[in-house]
Amino acid sequence: MRSRTTLGLVLAMAVAAAAGCDRDDRGEAAGPPADGAAPPPAVEVPGTAVAPAATQATPAPTAPTGGEGAADPLRATAQAMFGIIPEAVTALRGQPLSAAQVELGRMLFFDPRLSRSHLITCNTCHSLGTGGADNVPVSIGHGWQRGPRNSPTVLNAVFNAAQFWDGRAADLAEQAKGPVQASVEMNSTPELVVETLNSIPQYVERFAAAFPGAGDAVSFDNMALALEAFEATLVTPGARFDRWLQGDDAAIDATERRGLELFVSSGCASCHNGRNFGGQAYFPFGVIERPGADILPEGDKGRFEVTATATDEYVFRASPLRNVELTAPYFHSGQVWDLEQAVAIMGTAQLGREISGDEAEAIAAFLRTLTGRQPQVEYPVLPPSTARTPRPVAQ
Ligand code: HEC
Ligand code: HEC
Repeated sequence: MRSRTTLGLVLAMAVAAAAGCDRDDRGEAAGPPADGAAPPPAVEVPGTAVAPAATQATPAPTAPTGGEGAADPLRATAQAMFGIIPEAVTALRGQPLSAAQVELGRMLFFDPRLSRSHLITCNTCHSLGTGGADNVPVSIGHGWQRGPRNSPTVLNAVFNAAQFWDGRAADLAEQAKGPVQASVEMNSTPELVVETLNSIPQYVERFAAAFPGAGDAVSFDNMALALEAFEATLVTPGARFDRWLQGDDAAIDATERRGLELFVSSGCASCHNGRNFGGQAYFPFGVIERPGADILPEGDKGRFEVTATATDEYVFRASPLRNVELTAPYFHSGQVWDLEQAVAIMGTAQLGREISGDEAEAIAAFLRTLTGRQPQVEYPVLPPSTARTPRPVAQ
């Protein structure tokens, strides 16, 4: 069946989604869309400065395509809805990114001593070798405990309007304090982390250099700020889609282009927009038809746990879709391994639309053009523990 959704509807929903990202309370679920509105601007994170992409095949947004020199309307639509991943993030909250904090954050990201067991690192569940995620249904943490949700990628997370499937952390610094303390993840405490870091002289020096003149440099807050600074470097520019958006016609093929057309015309882009193709606003999982309890477990009510508002039951952040080909399995429950199947589920659940096998393949092919250059991160050599370092506790 062809979509009943008109482009006007798509754009109206996109406006609702973009509006959601401006709200300070990070918004409530956007209701069913209204018709007829203008396209949204590409979403920017306030205070996040970026360096322009290094190579642009054709600079102008209305670059002519094909022999006739006519502007490509699909590209113009896509430019209004999405955006490229920049080469680098250069500032956070208006402050230039500090090299000393980035370097410290890289060490902390890979340091198992932030966990009570001295076994689990951020990279355990957000492996930078596998798309910034762990590729298991739900994450496994302290004492082999299973967490309730799938691990989202840390790649490009700096561009999300808020962090977590339910958006409960405003930014990466607030977010970073969560996993360290979560009993099913790293199971530590702020006191234990500070004691551990203070017992390692090289960390004391590095914190002092990264956070000069601010009292006790070794603190749980500064740990979080350093992790945030490092995570801000984990961006993936140069995706084929981005090259196409900048004017390189040959960067995507005919099937991928058809997938993009379907992504826009079916209404996917109304929720998955901005440079991260999502991560900006919240929607019920099951706007039209709630998926089965295997995919949407009844116990996880999503944003309802954050806002205690009835309309937020089973509401989740529209997932960012950059690098999605690397981050299976899908959905907060991690129950769907196949990208084509995830696309089809979105069709019935969010749009009331049967997506044919052929269409799902085209959309998935398009989504695979969102895979960018993966960050090349050097594995840090970590400073040794001392006699004062608290010993690991495995259970
Ligand atoms: C045991 C596995 C595990 C560990 C260890 C872990 N995380 Fe996570 N991380 C998760 C899961 C699961 C979620 C999603 C939780 C939710 O939404 O409720 C998540 C969410 C995130 C997000 C949000 C991304 C987004 O798009 O919303 C970021 C950023 C992140 N983690 C960074 C870190 C950092 C930094 C560390 C180390 C301090 C860390 N994580 C340690 C499993 C883990
Ligand atoms: C009404 C808003 C909305 C629409 C329309 C929508 N999505 Fe989603 N999408 C979401 C939400 C919310 C989630 C997170 C679901 C969850 O809680 O697991 C999601 C998740 C996904 C995921 C899983 C990503 C991951 O990392 O697990 C994919 C893939 C996806 N959407 C693709 C699509 C495609 C393709 C379309 C169009 C056919 C579409 N979406 C339409 C809101 C929407």
